[in-house]
Order: sequence, then structure tokens, then C-alpha cells
Amino acid sequence: MPRLEQNRPLAWSDVTPKALWLTRRQWITGAAALAATPALSQIQAAPSRFSTDAEPNSFEDITGYNNFYEFGTGKEDPAAYAGGLTTDPWSIVIDGLVDKPGTYDLADVMKDQPLEERIYRLRCVEAWSMVVPWIGFELAGLLNRVGVQSGAKFVAFETLVRPEEMPGQSSPFIEWPYREGLRLDEAMHPLTILATGLYGEPMPNQNGAPIRLVVPWKYGFKSIKSIVRISLVAEMPPTTWNMLQPSEYGFYANVNPTVDHPRWSQASERVVGSGLFGGRQDTLMFNGYEAEVASLYAGQDLTVDY
Ligand code: MTE
Repeated sequence: MPRLEQNRPLAWSDVTPKALWLTRRQWITGAAALAATPALSQIQAAPSRFSTDAEPNSFEDITGYNNFYEFGTGKEDPAAYAGGLTTDPWSIVIDGLVDKPGTYDLADVMKDQPLEERIYRLRCVEAWSMVVPWIGFELAGLLNRVGVQSGAKFVAFETLVRPEEMPGQSSPFIEWPYREGLRLDEAMHPLTILATGLYGEPMPNQNGAPIRLVVPWKYGFKSIKSIVRISLVAEMPPTTWNMLQPSEYGFYANVNPTVDHPRWSQASERVVGSGLFGGRQDTLMFNGYEAEVASLYAGQDLTVDY
């Protein structure tokens, strides 16, 4: 269950020493300056009231068993091939219905956004799950900074296209770039974060360096990696899995144990890392965040809007 009460039990995040959760370049170029700047050297990402109290998976599980089709379709392909991805310099185009469109350097995207540790369960549509201690900031903070115009109803995201560094992009299986989208109210929800690290380290390449989306009440495929474009748009944008197989993957993709995938049940999940024959556990409505997000879908039929 999510840990929302103030008097919560001691968690991994309370006892693990923290470094500064910056991007790799800020990490390197900033190290000397930080040592001389006491205020900055004390930055710690506060644990969040939105975190689950479940024990995080090991760093090895989280960085060794991935979906990142730009590097291949196997779970071990991202760890094997993502090391060659250049993530510095990195910029993100923010465009569409915003007051301040532009190409923002990653450091500028992160400017003034308070980093927080969020321990979220990642529930994959393939019916397995992991618990990940992300470092990130609320997407709403960035959207408010660039100024969302009144006509904007959705947010569209795109991943980098760079076939020379992303061997999986030589396959036409997916129409690159990988795309995802959220309704504006989902994007502005405080649970929705842009993550720049995990386990107190800059984001590993296979997990979507240098910056990826995390939406904990949705299936993992919504959490698009290595983002280079964020567009505020009026119409529901096309999304990769929905384009590939609309009968199996909807736009909303909310974790919902009562709506099965056409080829398998979503009622339970295999807990990655809990042994060969694995622990299974019941999947919770909205991945455990029903109290926080159910109101976003009031009046919608979730068997239609899956
Ligand atoms: N983002 C991009 N660009 N490409 C992908 O193939 N896979 C998605 C999502 N984000 C994917 C992606 C899927 S299916 C899942 S389950 C999660 O990333 C996996 O995140 P993880 O590897 O960090 O656990």
C-alpha cells in the first residue's frame, strides 16, 4: 500500500546516505563548486509521502531486466547495448500550446525543480512488477514554468531517434520515435514525475537516461524514456503501443486488475526478483493509488477507456 501517513515505518530511503541527484554532467562539472558551497552540498532529495513502503528491488534487478526497444526486444538487451548512448549534451524541445516554447538544455529543464525520492512500484503490462527508488521532480513544476495555454488538453512525449547509437531502431517493428501521451490533468497530478536518477545515482542509460517519465498508476509502457520532446496539444496524441495494437493497449493504460489484457489476466503480477517461481501478488486498482487518482476518471467506463 502507498505510504501516505506521516508516521510511517522506517524505509530504505531513511537510512541510505544520499549523494546529490544530478545529471551526470552536473555531477562532474558541479562537484568542485558544490564542495565550496555549503548550501548546495546539503541538498538531499526528501522522501515523499507518495512513496510505497514496499522494499525496493535490487539495483541489479532494476538495471538488468528492462524494456527499452530502442536497444532490442530482449530484457537484457538494454543493459548490454545502452552503454553507448550519448546523454550529454541533452536538450528537450518543449513546444505546442505553451507560453515559452523552445529548446531547453537539460540543466535548464531541471532548474529550480525540487528533486525528491519517490519509491514507486512499476507494474508492467506484461504482468510483472518491481519497486524502484526514483529520483525526480513533478512534471507539473516544469509545465507551470513554461506556461500551459488554455487550449492544451494533452501532453505528448517523444524519445530520441539515433539509430547509430540505438541498435533496436534498425527494426521497423516500431514506428520511431517511441511516443507517449497523457491527458493534461494526469500530467499535472503530483504523482507524475520526470525522473533523472534512481538509487541515488544519475539515471542508468538502460532505464532512460538522462530523463524519463514515471506515472505510477499506469502500466510501465507509459513511462517513456530518454525524452527529447514534450508537446502541449489539443487532441489526444498517437502513442506507440496503441499505434501497434490498439485492441490490446489503450491510451489510458491505467493499472486495473478488473480489466484483462485480451491475452492474459491483469489480476495479479509476478514480483521480479522474488525467486525463480516467484512471488505473485494481487494487482491493486490504479497500482495502489485509487484514493489519489480515481476522481480523474469519474464518469468514464474503464472497460472502454483502457
Ligand atoms: N521508453 C522507450 N523510449 N522505449 C521503450 O521501449 N518501454 C516501456 C517504458 N518506456 C520503453 C519505454 C516499457 S514497456 C516499460 S515496462 C518501461 O519502460 C520499463 O522501464 P524500466 O526498464 O526502467 O523498468
